[in-house]
Amino acid sequence: MARILRISSSPRPRGCSTKIADAFVNEYVSINGSDVVDRIDLWSYDLPELDSVAIEAKYAVLRRANHSESERSVWRRIVDEAEKFKAYDKYIFSVPMWNWGIPFILKKYIDTITQPGLLFEWSPKAGYVGLVNKPVVAIYSSSFDYGEGSGMTGMDHQKRYFDHWLRVIGCRDIQSIVVAPTSAAFSESVVALEKAKQQAREIARIF
Ligand SMILES: Cc1cc2nc3c(=O)[nH]c(=O)nc-3n(C[C@H](O)[C@H](O)[C@H](O)COP(=O)(O)O)c2cc1C
Repeated sequence: MARILRISSSPRPRGCSTKIADAFVNEYVSINGSDVVDRIDLWSYDLPELDSVAIEAKYAVLRRANHSESERSVWRRIVDEAEKFKAYDKYIFSVPMWNWGIPFILKKYIDTITQPGLLFEWSPKAGYVGLVNKPVVAIYSSSFDYGEGSGMTGMDHQKRYFDHWLRVIGCRDIQSIVVAPTSAAFSESVVALEKAKQQAREIARIF
């Protein structure tokens, strides 16, 4: 029995990335009925504040220094969150484009769990070594199409950044599904949604 974590960073219950993730999960569950799919909706999920205490706690770990009491308490929460993430076998992320990047709530999640010794290690000799080598499906949505031939690929800091993060933490088996354009101003948006749903179902069958 595999445990799958679905992480949503769109605040819209009927958003395009959500619809594609729903299609993916429905197909996956119909085939892998004994697997468990848990879901984190980041917009209603309690994350620790990355305030001065939390950041000093992180730097103390890097310096191998002792924590103060308040640092110990917030660091425990951060470690718990990273360990909760790592405990899953596979991941599904839905990632809308917000101002050419990812929604800040997803960045906050990444900043919380991406900790040395937990998601990655670094040494002068080896550089970054990721500690999470698990299969991932990343579902990307955007009003405009930033794909090859669009003339806008250089403006895309959504897929490029998120894919970079996945690789740094060690993921190698990464499947990307792009739903774009999603703006109702484009007639192609209906076709793009159907195409992405179809792709999601196909990937779900072999995930
Ligand atoms: C705050 C915000 C910023 C956005 N920035 C961009 C952008 O830079 N480029 C783009 O193509 N679409 C942008 N959009 C549109 C969304 O990417 C698009 O509507 C997408 O389908 C949203 O995904 P969802 O339906 O899963 O929530 C933005 C939307 C919001 C709310």
